[in-house]
Order: sequence, then structure tokens, then C-alpha cells
Amino acid sequence: MTRVKTQDGTYTLYSARYGETYHSTFGARTEAQHVFLGGASVHQLMARKPLLRVLEVGFGTGLNFLLTAAAVRAAGTALEYAGLEQALPTYDDLKSLRYADLNALTDAAEALLAWRQEIPSIVPVGYYARELLPCCTLRLHIGDATTLKLQPGHFDAIYLDAFSPRKNPALWTPAFLTRLFEATAPGGRLATYSAAGHVRRALAQAGYRIVRRAGPPGKREVLSAARPAA
Ligand SMILES: C[S@@+](CC[C@H](N)C(=O)[O-])C[C@H]1O[C@@H](n2cnc3c(N)ncnc32)[C@H](O)[C@@H]1O
Repeated sequence: MTRVKTQDGTYTLYSARYGETYHSTFGARTEAQHVFLGGASVHQLMARKPLLRVLEVGFGTGLNFLLTAAAVRAAGTALEYAGLEQALPTYDDLKSLRYADLNALTDAAEALLAWRQEIPSIVPVGYYARELLPCCTLRLHIGDATTLKLQPGHFDAIYLDAFSPRKNPALWTPAFLTRLFEATAPGGRLATYSAAGHVRRALAQAGYRIVRRAGPPGKREVLSAARPAA
């Protein structure tokens, strides 16, 4: 895969298969922080929960995971992070992104890289779990996210970070978004960068209360979706 430098100085990957980058070219770290940690209200959730349970659809480079792990460490709480991913980038691709050089991400990024080096270059379909830091457990489900069984009401925060609905439609169908709603804990949130009308309507139809948020640089609007508390 090709490495791309984004406008906030952080790197992302370009997927030739999907014809898209893994993050916004206006700023990978900026987008991840604003759309996902901000959109899922991670800081507010951590203030009331000693253990944060996050599900990410499209784990990719792991940047959302690294930022969430850094926030959890700073708060002195714990993280259980489930990543759904069909094709994990190789060790060389991940290393090329230099996330271990980024402020506050070093330990988690090095631990993720060391783990990536231990597992096969093309990761077989299956379930892989590792306590990457004393506060943070990563559970990777390698395979097609649409076929995985998700624990009902389990996740405080869901990051929906597939490629765009046009290029990666299977992860944006009303049926899949309904499954994500069912996996969201009451009072939990789903965050995504897409503000497409059909995505917003399908999330609302699934049962979420939709909040339209200002987007990060390069994007007018993004979505946050809350599962009502009870
Ligand atoms: C936009 S990228 C994810 C970016 C990622 N969150 C990051 O921080 O690097 C979308 C990801 O979804 C994965 N993906 C696409 N279709 C999938 C599917 N059906 N099941 C699981 N993962 C899928 C791709 O392999 C890719 O890694």
C-alpha cells in the first residue's frame, strides 16, 4: 500500500483496491480525534465508566485505537477495544506510518507493531486478543464484519470507519447498521464521518438519536448517533 502524508503532518495509507485513503487527507490524526473520539463522546463516557468498551468497524491502521488508548491512559481508566477488519495492513505498512513518533502514542504504537510482527503477513480469518498495555486489551476479529456475531448492548462507543458507502456498501446497509445499534449499550454512541442522507436515515430507523456535528477540516458535517439510555 502507498503511504500518504496528510495536512496535519500525520500519515495514512491509500488503498488501490478501494481507490480511497484510510483517513482524510486534510489530517489523519485530526479527523480521528474529532470524528471518532469526539463523536462518540469518549471523554464524557470515561468520566463515568472505569472500563470503556469500544467497537471499531474497519480497524485498518489502528490510529483510532491508539488515540483511544492514549485518552484512556491519561484518564487512568481501562479499555476493551474490539476491532473488525477484513485485511490488516502489513507490518511494513504500519511501520511506515510512524505513529510511534506521535506525542502520547509511542507505547501503544510500539506494542501494536510488535504484535503485528508476530502474526502472519496475511492474517488468517479468526479472533486475536492481546493486552497491549496494562490498561488496554485489543481484540481483533479478522474476517468479514457483516458475518460476525456482536454481543447485544455491549459497546459504549462504536466507530464506524469503513471506506465510503459508495465503495464499501456492505458496511452501511440498514441491516448492518441495525446490528450495530443492537450492539450499542444503552446511553452509548456511534460515530462516523459519513453524513450521507441514507446513512443518517438508516441509523435513525435502527433506533439511534442523530446529532449532526460540524466536520473536521475538509468536511462540512459528520454524524454522531446516540442509543437512548433506557
Ligand atoms: C477507512 S479504512 C479504516 C481506517 C481505520 N479506522 C484506521 O484508523 O486506519 C476501512 C477499513 O475497513 C476494512 N473493511 C472493508 N470491508 C470490510 C468488511 N466487510 N469487513 C471488515 N473490514 C472491512 C478495510 O480493510 C479497511 O481497513
